[in-house]
Amino acid sequence: MWLVLTLLLPLSLSLGYKVEPGCDDWTLDPSSSSQVCCNKCKPGNRLVSQCGSNTKALCEPCENGTYAATLTALFCKRCTECISPLRMKKPCNAYTDTVCECVQGFLCGDKSCSFCIQECGKGEEPTENRGCRPCPAGTFNSQIHHHCVNWSSSCPSPDQQITAPGTAFSDIVCADRKPTMPTPDVKPKPGIMLVMAIICACLIISSAMPLCVAMFFKKEKTEKKPPKPVETPVAGRRLVPEPEQCSFCFPQEERGSHSSLLLDDKPFELVV
Ligand SMILES: *[C@@H]1O[C@H](CO)[C@@H](O)[C@H](O)[C@H]1NC(C)=O
Ligand SMILES: *[C@@H]1O[C@H](CO)[C@@H](O)[C@H](O)[C@H]1NC(C)=O
Repeated sequence: MWLVLTLLLPLSLSLGYKVEPGCDDWTLDPSSSSQVCCNKCKPGNRLVSQCGSNTKALCEPCENGTYAATLTALFCKRCTECISPLRMKKPCNAYTDTVCECVQGFLCGDKSCSFCIQECGKGEEPTENRGCRPCPAGTFNSQIHHHCVNWSSSCPSPDQQITAPGTAFSDIVCADRKPTMPTPDVKPKPGIMLVMAIICACLIISSAMPLCVAMFFKKEKTEKKPPKPVETPVAGRRLVPEPEQCSFCFPQEERGSHSSLLLDDKPFELVV
């Protein structure tokens, strides 16, 4: 209820229907004792005639849609219409013109907001013809409706270095030289090399393994063929390679050491 009243009261006043007619401040006409002259009309009135016998007739309220800009205005002015992109902020009343504002994306072009200009975003700047243009090369603007400024030519501190170039929206980016910058540059390389080394090792092992296994079984066969006296298992055991004895993969090492192994190496060499 109170809300409705508080909304309606200023509305009816602002429309100017309650404008009191007449002169507000008058003096006796020095040239005629029967007349008065109006110095100031009541707000919302225009001055019809400066001097007269009836103070109420000297001033006249402005008609709907017009307003008296001053207390001595001879004519009422037509209320301004807010035409898009202008829109009404406060309606006209008998003594104040309409107040306009600009719709979103536009800004008032002058103090009284008689026209709008396009609001320029980040990365661009206003032009003289009320438009916008992108920031020229080497400049940036990170604010709404501001002029582009030059990128910094260097970092603020000599301990810093440029880590990102400037854009239309932002200046160059600087960071401290020492602590973290060199490490990420170097670290990935050993990591990659380590991975590659592991992969190589795996490849070598996986390719050598079947050969070793083949060798192992081949030997076992040849050792088992001869009859089994008690002494031979001793010799045989010596000859049977343990699984990790991958040295058999490299026959050159074996040749000089055991003549018995040399014989077994031959088929292996053919396979290779
Ligand atoms: C102004 O408009 C109001 C409401 O529409 C009306 O009552 C009043 O008579 C009008 N005044 C003039 C001078 O046209
Ligand atoms: C911006 O840069 C231009 C060209 O490099 C130069 O002529 C101009 O003076 C600079 N403006 C400012 C404010 O530093």
